[in-house]
Amino acid sequence: MENSTVDLKKKIEALREQFANEPNLNPQSLKTKYLGKKGLFNQLAKQLSTLTPDQRKEAGKLLNNFKNNLQTKLEKLDQQPTSAWVDLTVPGILPPQGHLHPVSQAIEEISEIFQKIGFTRVRYPEVDWDYYAFEALNMPANHPARDEWETFFVDLPADKKLGRVVLTPHTSNGQVREMERLKGKPPIRMINIGRCYRRQQDVTHIQMFHQFEGLVVDRGINIQHLKGTLDYFAREFYGADTKSRIRPFHFQFTEPSFEVDFSCHICHGTGEINGNKCSFCKSGWHEVGGAGMVHPNVLRAGGIDANKYTGFAFGWGVERTYTLKEGLNIDDIRLLYSSDVRFLEQF
Ligand code: PHE
Repeated sequence: MENSTVDLKKKIEALREQFANEPNLNPQSLKTKYLGKKGLFNQLAKQLSTLTPDQRKEAGKLLNNFKNNLQTKLEKLDQQPTSAWVDLTVPGILPPQGHLHPVSQAIEEISEIFQKIGFTRVRYPEVDWDYYAFEALNMPANHPARDEWETFFVDLPADKKLGRVVLTPHTSNGQVREMERLKGKPPIRMINIGRCYRRQQDVTHIQMFHQFEGLVVDRGINIQHLKGTLDYFAREFYGADTKSRIRPFHFQFTEPSFEVDFSCHICHGTGEINGNKCSFCKSGWHEVGGAGMVHPNVLRAGGIDANKYTGFAFGWGVERTYTLKEGLNIDDIRLLYSSDVRFLEQF
């Protein structure tokens, strides 16, 4: 019987020695090795159960002392500066931090710019009736202008009044919806940002993209208000010296209609850098989208008295607008949707 306690004493001594000679002085791993659940101390303590109650008393004391000893030593080790050379100027390891997708960042920025001048941000269906995407926009069934929008049709039964279901090819479907929301009562100052779909795909076009659509309807609204709004956006989004330009064009739902350009930030609208053609824009300007004065037929479709009210509308792609920003140089729009973190991390 005596022997068992002596035996335990010897083992404690051996363990103490082992600890003292530990070459690895990392306090954390030592703690696990010696005092962890399955550690050397617990393995030793299991032997208590083989002893008589009297022996257990004595051996328990020994073990307890030993444990306290180990603990104090480990604590001391923990507080000691490690002998390894530490460079305190090395930057810490940052936990990975995500951010909004560049397109979401652009949408937030565009919304804020228009909200500052009193526009209300709205969203209308991406899967909508033919009526809102075309018919109410002065494009009756079979009108050839519809072909400009390479539309996806949804395989669902058509509605007698509203026609077939389409994936909206532009955010202009929000125009008459907004007029209806406001029960045909201007003023309207809408900014509609949403997804659009077209049967297209190359470096500057993708099947799913975003557009933002502005619509303003009130008494006495004219082209100057449109031009002023475009200039304001150009300055806010691209920088103080950016200008807008409108060129005659044709849309069924605006009259007159325009194409909208923004001056190039690289050559400042001159089209030239040191006597050479600017390779970014080639002409001094970037074409971005369409605009115009709302066609009276569209106002009427939205229940608005076209004799009292006039309005302007504009709309174009978020991705295209964003990739023209200074310093971005994204030459393939499809990269934005490649889900490649190495690409997205840069924005
Ligand atoms: N919806 C047109 C397009 O997608 C752009 C546009 C919007 C034109 C509003 C005029 C007014 O090309």
